[in-house]
Order: sequence, then C-alpha cells, then structure tokens
Amino acid sequence: MKKLLLIPVALLSLIACNNNSSSTEEKKDTGTTTTNTAPAEVDISANPDYKAGLALIAKNDCLTCHSVNDKINGPAYKDVANKYANAGDTIVTHLAKKIIAGGSGVWGEIPMTPHPTVSQADAEQMVKYVLLLKK
Ligand code: HEC
Repeated sequence: MKKLLLIPVALLSLIACNNNSSSTEEKKDTGTTTTNTAPAEVDISANPDYKAGLALIAKNDCLTCHSVNDKINGPAYKDVANKYANAGDTIVTHLAKKIIAGGSGVWGEIPMTPHPTVSQADAEQMVKYVLLLKK
C-alpha cells in the first residue's frame, strides 16, 4: 500500500473522475497533465527585462554601489523597487535620466555618480530590471 505517496495522484484522479483503480492495478495516468506551478509565485528571472537589465548592470559599475538586498553606497535595488512600486510609467524615463546625470537627495546626501556613456535605452532597461525586484 503506497497510499501516502499516492494521495496527490489520487486527488488528481478524483478530479478527473477516474478513480477506479484497485490496489493491484496501478494506472499510469498518462492523460493527466499536472500543472503544479503556483500562479502567485511569478519567476521574475524568466522575464526578458530581468535578463537584459541584469546583463547591463553587470557590465557597468552599478554593483560597486548597489546590491539587490543591501544598502552599500546606494540604496538596495529591492528598496528602490518598493519605493516606486506604485509610480506611473514615467518613472522608468525619470530614473534612467537620473542614472545618466547622477544626483542625490532622494535617499540621502551621498550622490550617485553620473553615467554619461550609458544610453537612455540601456539605462531604461536597467531600471526595468531594478523595478522587478520589489518584494
Ligand atoms: C558611486 C556609487 C554609485 C554607482 C556607481 C551607481 N549608483 Fe545608483 N545610486 C547611488 C546613490 C548614492 C543613490 C541615491 C541617490 C539619491 O539619494 O538621490 C543611487 C540611486 C539609484 C537609483 C534610484 C534613484 C532615485 O532617484 O530614487 C537607481 C535606479 C540607481 N541608483 C541605479 C543605478 C544603476 C543602474 C547604476 C549603474 C549604471 C548605478 N545606480 C550606479 C550610488 C551609485
């Protein structure tokens, strides 16, 4: 009797109205597709904005001052994402411009250095990645 192991299978079988297997006849339910991925847990690393933004951030100097979870010189990206979680669409443009121009005053007196060689498009892509990190 592998009752415990079979509970999930049995439940699926019940749902499928297919619960006529005896203990000797163990059916392989080939027809049942098990979709166990919880929709609430979205895997952000599969998002193209995540991959592209992270690649650019890794190529630039961002991680000398920022990390995802901890404040270094600059705020944790998680905190940035949470701060702007309910901001409108223009926040991407705004933060991208700030990355290029540099500046201070939002998180404290320490300034972010300017990044004049970063394009607006690349900066926006990096911002999109950062904003995905909200918790
Ligand atoms: C020399 C350190 C340093 C580097 C390098 C750096 N940052 Fe920052 N960053 C900061 C500081 C400090 C702040 C907070 C500025 C403020 O208080 O307005 C900040 C703020 C930010 C913000 C939030 C801005 C706001 O107004 O809320 C974003 C987004 C950001 N940085 C992204 C980046 C990206 C992307 C890069 C790489 C291209 C980068 N940073 C490189 C220090 C840095």
